Amino acid sequence: MRTSSIERLLRADILEIPDYPAPETPAELSARTGIPEEHFIKLDQSENPHGCSQRVRSALARFDRYHIYPDGTAADLRRHLGEYVGMPADQIVVGNGSDELIDMTLGILIEPGDRVIVNSPTFAYYASSIGAHAATLVDVPRRGDFSIDVDAVLSTIDDRTKAIIIASPNNPTGNLTPIADIRRLLEGGPLVAIDEAYAEFAGTSVLPLMAEHDNLVVIRTFSKWAGLAGLRLGYGIYPPALMPHILKVKPPFNTNIAAQVAGRVSLEDQEYLLSTVRLIVNERERLFRRLSEIEFLKPYPSAANFILCQVLRGEARDLHQKLEANRILVRYFDKPGLRNFIRISIGTPEECDELVRCLRAIGQAYSMG
Ligand SMILES: Cc1ncc(COP(=O)(O)O)c(C=O)c1O
Repeated sequence: MRTSSIERLLRADILEIPDYPAPETPAELSARTGIPEEHFIKLDQSENPHGCSQRVRSALARFDRYHIYPDGTAADLRRHLGEYVGMPADQIVVGNGSDELIDMTLGILIEPGDRVIVNSPTFAYYASSIGAHAATLVDVPRRGDFSIDVDAVLSTIDDRTKAIIIASPNNPTGNLTPIADIRRLLEGGPLVAIDEAYAEFAGTSVLPLMAEHDNLVVIRTFSKWAGLAGLRLGYGIYPPALMPHILKVKPPFNTNIAAQVAGRVSLEDQEYLLSTVRLIVNERERLFRRLSEIEFLKPYPSAANFILCQVLRGEARDLHQKLEANRILVRYFDKPGLRNFIRISIGTPEECDELVRCLRAIGQAYSMG
């Protein structure tokens, strides 16, 4: 609905796009509760509890050329990335977080009214980006175990279907889509964008399929495994035929110099960072076993750095509030397809111990009440 005169200039379909459900910032949370933000255990946004590499901090502190425009092609970072992922650097594009790669990918495909398939529940930004490009979102909901119904997706494809976007591991459900399913989807014809934001925690990737299929795009990020969520650095690996076109829509200096330096130094320090990934994976498995013993939660196995749990007793929203009162932040979901769930990011062992202690106390209060 248009409410002010300037809104008459807006595209009519922009008015229909739902707001992106941005979580409360730590500063807002602190202002609302009166508790300093560093006193919270932050398990709500799948960040890396071990932070970034110390070598990144030192390199950024030493860097003295912030007044000079960055290399718009990020050639040095792309060269290192090529070695990291085992793909040619000239098939890699970097961006201001992987969100921007999703936008650029849709930007070269979509004419108004084209269709893009997603499988809910999944990462909410896909809907925003699809809407921003005036595409029609076609949702083929996941099954009860959150797997993708490949036959249903294939039967939905028509000649206006340009892309299928899949997060694997999926956010917020944590499960991987099997390679065999992705192969079948690739044979369906549209571009298949696999968002591997959590690939390092899964220890597997669809990248080898790029040798066989020219309609596969893989999108990655430094936000999770490298602890750089605040710096915004993502990248996409594209089939050679799309590269000249994606470079036409890429803003010239989309990746700032701090992110480029941080990305390169993270790759140089990958042995350390991947050791923190292993700590998180071990903690994920330990936390999964302990959550399975909490009688009012049903945790779902995860290949990512978070665990989704169905809340079997009481409301997820209340549980979220009780945990917040104990200075623990988690995400809760209460929407179609995701009724009464919480998502817990994997923290340090100490943080997860505190979470489990609180959950047990809440469980005891339930059984007494
Ligand atoms: C599946 C998925 N893709 C992309 C992103 C965003 O990553 P970035 O921080 O690189 O924009 C997230 C963030 O949570 C995510 O869950």
